[in-house]
Amino acid sequence: MKFYILNGPNLNMLGIREPAHYGTVTYKDLVSMIEAHCKERGVTAVCLQSNHEGDLVDWIQQAYFEGADGIVINPGAYTHTSVALLDAVKSTSLPTVEIHISKVEEREAFRQVSYIRAACIKTVTGHGVAGYLEAIDALIGHLKGADPACK
Ligand code: DQA
Repeated sequence: MKFYILNGPNLNMLGIREPAHYGTVTYKDLVSMIEAHCKERGVTAVCLQSNHEGDLVDWIQQAYFEGADGIVINPGAYTHTSVALLDAVKSTSLPTVEIHISKVEEREAFRQVSYIRAACIKTVTGHGVAGYLEAIDALIGHLKGADPACK
């Protein structure tokens, strides 16, 4: 199995930005954690981060054209604004899990909207960086048929 693990704007600042919300693990350490977790499960992880919406659209399409099995995405602030990311995920029909490090549902009103959620099989919030590993396992479970599409 091959998964694209996509991170949006400011997630390269993990470990520096607002530790009360996002913890102290750096993006580099997050990628190492994800790669180790995926390796143990026989999954190839393609980890990419960009501060630019179009890059994320391109990578969602690339996941499809390269025959990836699924996507885990933390769209960062684009969660709350981007119809383009929603449309990109819908275009591919790839099973996609949305993940947020912080508990977005307990934060500002503008963080309560997620455009991409409508195209995702599951959303993980508020479990810190461990949420990425949970999202990966949910995707594996979904692909093996053990975890029917649910939110
Ligand atoms: C975030 C939550 C978003 O509201 C925010 O803009 C982020 C990170 C999270 O992981 O909790 O950049 O997606």
